[in-house]
Amino acid sequence: MQEMLKVNGLKMYFGGLKAIDGLDLDVHEKETLGIIGPNGAGKTTLFNVVCGVHKPTEGKILLNGKEIQGKEPFEIAGKGVARTFQISKPLKDISILDNVVAALGINEYTGFKSLFRKSHNKETVEKAIEILKRTGLIEFKDKKAGEVSLGYLRRLEIARALAINPLLIMLDEPCAGLSNFAINEVIELIMQLKSEGKTIVLIEHNLPISMKVCDRIVVLNFGQKIAEGLPKEIQNNPQVIEAYLGEDDDIA
Ligand SMILES: Nc1ncnc2c1ncn2[C@@H]1O[C@H](COP(=O)(O)OP(=O)(O)OP(=O)(O)O)[C@@H](O)[C@H]1O
Ligand SMILES: [Mg+2]
Repeated sequence: MQEMLKVNGLKMYFGGLKAIDGLDLDVHEKETLGIIGPNGAGKTTLFNVVCGVHKPTEGKILLNGKEIQGKEPFEIAGKGVARTFQISKPLKDISILDNVVAALGINEYTGFKSLFRKSHNKETVEKAIEILKRTGLIEFKDKKAGEVSLGYLRRLEIARALAINPLLIMLDEPCAGLSNFAINEVIELIMQLKSEGKTIVLIEHNLPISMKVCDRIVVLNFGQKIAEGLPKEIQNNPQVIEAYLGEDDDIA
């Protein structure tokens, strides 16, 4: 079986700091792969390298068998890799609807030009509305992104990711800092994407959330993979428990 994403011998060094240090990783089609690990383990850096924000120091990244490492972010997004950010980055002064409309622009023109394209044609707006319905944001479509709470912004991030009709959706701690209610809404949305057959990589610090949502989990520590397996295998892995016991996280 061909992997949707394959990471081979990946290294990302920032000067002497080895943020990713020889990582091998596979993401199977239609699975939800969890990435967990303590603060500074290299989780966000992995996303940044896969999405083209950083050029890797060494190693290969293959999307459906084709090398993508070192390509520009817009090229990688154009190939169907969408990501959300640990810190939400909406366009705050425009509406929720226009945020999704702007993200849809990337489908029609890739790259720099998409920034200038006025894509307020009827079809684009209809597509944006359909995505807002799927992500439970339709009631808020006319609110400015800067006026809604973090839970909605996290869902807006996912809505913007869906706008590129992605093969692979990478979510960076979509539940961080949210109330239990908002966490459950985000989890429900991820479960819905799973049931639609999307391929998802989820960075999630909170182990109970990963256990609930993910089919498989990879554990990073100091830029290296220290464990990989089914959620229940990971929960009982002594190395994982040790890496987490170094912090105040509860693992249960
Ligand atoms: N652009 C950068 N320049 C220099 N160092 C960086 C850069 N980005 C990340 N790092 C460092 O790389 C290491 C891994 O950081 P990263 O953000 O990937 O961790 P993380 O696993 O996402 O942590 P967290 O759980 O806190 O989000 C850290 O030591 C961080 O300070
Ligand atoms: Mg991070």
